[in-house]
Amino acid sequence: MTSAARRADFLMALAYATDLATGHSRDFALRSCVLSMRFADLLNLDDSIRRDVYHQALLRYIGCNADSHLLAAAFGDEIALRRDLQRIDISNKSELAETIVRAITRTFADAPPAELAQAVERGLAEAMQVSVPILSGHCEVAKRIAERIGLSKETQENLGQLYERWDGRGLPRGLSGGAVKLPVRIVTLAQDAIALNEAHGFETMRAMISKRGDGAYEAELANLFVAHAESLLSGLDDPVDRETILSIEPHPHAVLDEEACEEAYIAIADMIDMRMPFTFGHSRAVSALADAAGKRLALPASDIREVRWAAYTHDIGELAVPVSTWMRRGAFTERETDAAKLHPYHGERALASLGREGTAIAALVLRHHERLDGSGYHRNARAPDLAPAARILAAAEAFQTAREARPHRPALSDAAAASKLRSAVREGKLCAEAVEAVLASAGQPGRRDDAERMSGLTSREIEVLRLIAAGHTAKEAARRLEIAPKTADNHIQNLYSKIGVTTRAAAALYALERGLIQQGSSAG
Ligand SMILES: [Fe+2]
Repeated sequence: MTSAARRADFLMALAYATDLATGHSRDFALRSCVLSMRFADLLNLDDSIRRDVYHQALLRYIGCNADSHLLAAAFGDEIALRRDLQRIDISNKSELAETIVRAITRTFADAPPAELAQAVERGLAEAMQVSVPILSGHCEVAKRIAERIGLSKETQENLGQLYERWDGRGLPRGLSGGAVKLPVRIVTLAQDAIALNEAHGFETMRAMISKRGDGAYEAELANLFVAHAESLLSGLDDPVDRETILSIEPHPHAVLDEEACEEAYIAIADMIDMRMPFTFGHSRAVSALADAAGKRLALPASDIREVRWAAYTHDIGELAVPVSTWMRRGAFTERETDAAKLHPYHGERALASLGREGTAIAALVLRHHERLDGSGYHRNARAPDLAPAARILAAAEAFQTAREARPHRPALSDAAAASKLRSAVREGKLCAEAVEAVLASAGQPGRRDDAERMSGLTSREIEVLRLIAAGHTAKEAARRLEIAPKTADNHIQNLYSKIGVTTRAAAALYALERGLIQQGSSAG
């Protein structure tokens, strides 16, 4: 049996994930989609623009998960920072400075006063220096992901205008007036209205939108919005269901065949894994192992497809926990541990939009950290509740994670990771058959050698690309390659122009797309 799904279902899963990663409220992107479409109706826009509005609202932040570790390193809890940024006018320097100081103070709350003062000074000095390249990277990544799920050139261009404003004081390029595309202007206004309404209440939101006329927004649009704000926002305090979002998609409704579904799942995998160098390529690798193990154990084809797709998305709920927490070398607090252990729950919720087949995939995602003896999380499920596909996913995830480095430990060798899994079998936690199938699959020659041959890059270029994807700066790359920093810089620039990107994040995504990430050692 083949599989087909509405593309909008995938967009909703991506929207749910980006809401988590950017600190937005529940169903923020979905509610903003309804609001933006109502506004588009009020403006009497034709179907082609309405389609762009629909995509912009659901996917505006789709690239914003890239390089979250850089934001986290500069400002601490990046999810809380993003939540605060939604409520201010980021062109207002004093509001921006206040928000950054609050973020840094939150992170360094326990540090001695002198260290806190230094961190604040550094954060303020670096704010623009850090933010502009990161935002440019977000835009490029968003465009590439949109292309991979088959969205139009127009949608890709709109996604590249992430924080552009009517008055030219936006980012990343400082476009102004009509150069900022109409769908971007509509969705920016609608999303600000929802965030401001939540933070300050209806009347203050109206006053703030009105005051920003000819600033952040075109005055004509702002005035029209304010005049109809009550009816436009009516009922949007509550969550929005899947059927509503499916019903407002402009015709013709996009449907993905099985191959396109596979691509969409891979796009979600890459989006999840781009948040920090430690996880680059993780979900693709788990998926390849689970698929091969499923075949070895002769599971039905539909089960193999489900476990492969569940593996692509298994950590989607991890986006609810700040990268600043995942990146820390020290132990988690009790509260952080609880939040981290809830990620399978968020994952199940994120995939709820995927319809009938999505239910089976979500059920696997929910169980990916469960163990046969009930010692896993978050529901402490036991053997009878863990079908073969769930056992394979758990084994593939455990093996892959063990051979990847994490901030608090180095990567294990394949042999050491295998013995760790066999111990877990002996302790009654993992299924022996599933573990042996995964381990046997890991012993097969990978696709990487083929990928290297096919990429058209020299081995030196691939080496440079891998270092960049692993988050190394030009200076660090130079040290590892034992060449002068200037030469490393030239290598990087030549590589960028050869593969047609201008940012680190887009280069990293390129490496993932072509299977050039070295599993288990990417974080060095
Ligand atoms: Fe996980």
